[in-house]
Amino acid sequence: MSFQSEIVKWYLKYKRDLPWRNTNDAYVIWLSEVILQQTRVEQGLPYFNRFLQNYPTVLDFAAATETQILKLWQGLGYYSRGRNMLFTAVQVREEHNGQFPTSYDALIKLKGIGDYTAAAIASFSANERKAVLDGNVFRVLSRYFGIEEPINSSSGKKQFLNLAQSLIEDQHAAIYNQSIMEFGALQCKPKSPDCSVCPLQTGCVAREQGLVNVLPVKLNKLKKRTRYFNYFMGTGNDQILVKKRNAGDIWQELYDFPLIETTDNYQEDYKSFSEKLTLAFGKDCKITALSQQKHLLTHQTIYVQFFALDNYIINFNEDTDIKWVSFEEFNELPQPKVITNFMNTHFNYLEKL
Ligand code: ADE
Ligand code: SF4
Repeated sequence: MSFQSEIVKWYLKYKRDLPWRNTNDAYVIWLSEVILQQTRVEQGLPYFNRFLQNYPTVLDFAAATETQILKLWQGLGYYSRGRNMLFTAVQVREEHNGQFPTSYDALIKLKGIGDYTAAAIASFSANERKAVLDGNVFRVLSRYFGIEEPINSSSGKKQFLNLAQSLIEDQHAAIYNQSIMEFGALQCKPKSPDCSVCPLQTGCVAREQGLVNVLPVKLNKLKKRTRYFNYFMGTGNDQILVKKRNAGDIWQELYDFPLIETTDNYQEDYKSFSEKLTLAFGKDCKITALSQQKHLLTHQTIYVQFFALDNYIINFNEDTDIKWVSFEEFNELPQPKVITNFMNTHFNYLEKL
């Protein structure tokens, strides 16, 4: 039996029952694929359901505000995905009469849709013969065919794309693409796959040559940047002091607190923070250290220290990005996960006192 038939046969036996596999609605498939980029299925599934419930069609999605989308997206990370989706939905409304395109060539022209997503939507919704190439597919192909070329070099990418495209057959594009991704996710897993139960074990180069834990090869990953965030939480009159984050950094347009970023781990003594805040706000500021958190992002590690601003009441004029909101309003604003976690633990803890 061929590589392709083995994989599809395995899929029909072991696949998970996932809601986006029971549709050929390009909009629904787009929704699932964007949510599942850089997100595990178990984590993405409830988000997919909520988005579909709130926005059953692309026109409903296009009519949403950015704040509404970011609020629903909250906790998933990579917030630019949510923002780009709104742009894509509006583009589909304006340029495609609200009909989500299903051909690769039309899809790739939409903002926020890259090679992978265009191939996934075109193959799943219209069976177009376009190979998907995600982390799972790279892994399966590099191991089975014993390809040692790095998957993130430009020549490696070309080689894998050519191979993937040569394997995909007419009429079977949708099921084959689903199958190889699922096979990579469940059978040919990143760490210590159980090759002894694998239906492809006899033809697999990596298994034969002991390269299973070496492949796929990836070129030197970007070094992670370490940052130190010191957040100052002001509360008073049942309100909380929030700050909208600026463009050009992580979590843009989400809401957090007034922040002093330092280059080292809490080295700066807390007194200098009070002095800086007093200078910035023109009012005597005292602070109390609260909890700490370590937050991991793909390219950054962020050490977060929270402080309370004691007895803090101050007015801000309209044009500043810092403002007072009620706790209810704050709850409705999109915010980074560190802030939500902090609010939950800090205020639940206070309630129990
Ligand atoms: N990850 C990305 N796309 C997926 C899909 N269609 N099914 C399961 N996991 C996925
Ligand atoms: Fe992957 Fe092992 Fe199967 Fe090869 S034999 S395809 S490495 S699970």
